[in-house]
Amino acid sequence: MFKINDNYQKLPGSYLFSTIAKKVNEYSAANPDKKLIRLGIGDVTQPIAPAIIEALHSAVDEMSKAETFHGYAPDLGYEFLRNAIAENDYKARGCDISADEIFVSDGAKSDSGNIQEIFSEDNRIAVCDPVYPVYVDSNVMAGRTGTYDPATEMWSNVIYMPCVKENNFVPEFPKETPDMIYLCLPNNPTGTTITKAQLQEWVDYANKVGAVIIYDGAYEAYISEDDVAHSIYECEGARTCAIEIKSFSKNAGFTGVRLGYTVVPKELKCGDVSLHAMWARRHGTKFNGAPYIIQRAGEAVYSEAGKAQLKQQVAYYMKNAATIKRGLQEAGYEVFGGVNAPYIWLKTPDQMSSWEFFDYLLEKANVVGTPGSGFGPSGEGYFRLTAFGAYENTLEALERIKAL
Ligand code: MLT
Repeated sequence: MFKINDNYQKLPGSYLFSTIAKKVNEYSAANPDKKLIRLGIGDVTQPIAPAIIEALHSAVDEMSKAETFHGYAPDLGYEFLRNAIAENDYKARGCDISADEIFVSDGAKSDSGNIQEIFSEDNRIAVCDPVYPVYVDSNVMAGRTGTYDPATEMWSNVIYMPCVKENNFVPEFPKETPDMIYLCLPNNPTGTTITKAQLQEWVDYANKVGAVIIYDGAYEAYISEDDVAHSIYECEGARTCAIEIKSFSKNAGFTGVRLGYTVVPKELKCGDVSLHAMWARRHGTKFNGAPYIIQRAGEAVYSEAGKAQLKQQVAYYMKNAATIKRGLQEAGYEVFGGVNAPYIWLKTPDQMSSWEFFDYLLEKANVVGTPGSGFGPSGEGYFRLTAFGAYENTLEALERIKAL
C-alpha cells in the first residue's frame, strides 16, 4: 500500500489566499448586488506595458515560422534575458553578479517554495513574523518545521523573528542560531523595509554563523528611499551567504504571464559543495525552462521604452499607496508601509482581531483586504491592503472605509 508524504497532513487549513478567495466568493454569491473592491491579494490590475506587448507579439510571430520557431528553452534561461538581467539589475547597481549565476524561472513563488529542496532536512529556518506563507509552508511539506501548536500558531522547529510596531518591523538577530534565514525586503506583508546598513548587518551575521539568507526581492521596484538596497549583493560578503529571488510580477505586471529568476553566486558553498551546481542540477531535472515568448517579454522589461513605461506603472501603484495611507490616517488609523512597497499595513481598530476586521470590512464596506494573522501570529491585530488596485477603486474603497 502506498504511503503519502505525511508532512502535508500537518499543514493547518488551506493556503491563505485560497481561504480568502473562498470566503469572498461565498459572500459574493449571497450578496450579488454588492460591488466588492478587492485590495486583498497582491495581484496587479494595470495592463502589460506596450513595449512588452510588442515583444510578446513579435515572439509569437516567430513561433509561426519554422526558421524562427523555438522549442524547449535552455533550462537555465536564454542568454539574451540572463544578460539583460545581469546588466540592468546587477552591473548597473555595482553588484558583481554574472549572467551564468542567474537562473530564469516561471516566477518567484515557485523558486521561493522550491529552493529549500537543496538543503538538509535538519536545517533550522528563521522567518520574519508575519511572513509570506510560502516560506513556512514549503518547509512544512519538506518535514523541516517540527510540530504545529494551534494555540500559538507556531511550529516547534521554526525560529520566528517578530516584526512589529515596537521594533519598527525590523527583524532582530534570533537567540537561537538558524541555518536558513528568509528575508523579504521590501517586506510582504508589512510594506516596510530596512536600510542598506541594516541589511549589511544581516549579511555579516549570516557569514559569521554559517547561515544562508534566502532573499526575496520581489518588491524592489517600489523602493523610493536612497538608503535602501535594491539587491542583497550591494552588501559586502553577500556572495558567500545569499541567494536572491526576483519576480517580474510586481515590477512588470507578470502575475498572469509568469517569469522570475534566482541568483546563486558561485562562491556560495557548503564545505566544497557548490549550491550553484546543486540548483543547476535541480533546475535541469525538474524544470524545462520558461517559455521563449515570455522570456522575450522579460527582455523588453529592460528596453528603454519598457523601463520608462514601467516606471510610470510603479508610480501609478505608489500613488494608490499614498492615497490609502493618507486616507486611513485621516480616518484615524495607525498605518505603516506604503513608502518602499505597494502594501499598507494597518493596526485594526478597537482591538478587533485581524479576521474580525476582515469580516467587518467585507460586510460593511464591501472591501476585501488580508488579515495580518494569516501571515503569522505577530500579524494578529494588523491588516494588509494592497496598492495594486485601479486608482478609482482605491479612492472609492477609502471613501467607504472613511464612512464607517
Ligand atoms: C500576496 O498577496 O502576498 C502576493 O500576491 C502573493 C504572491 O506574490 O504570491
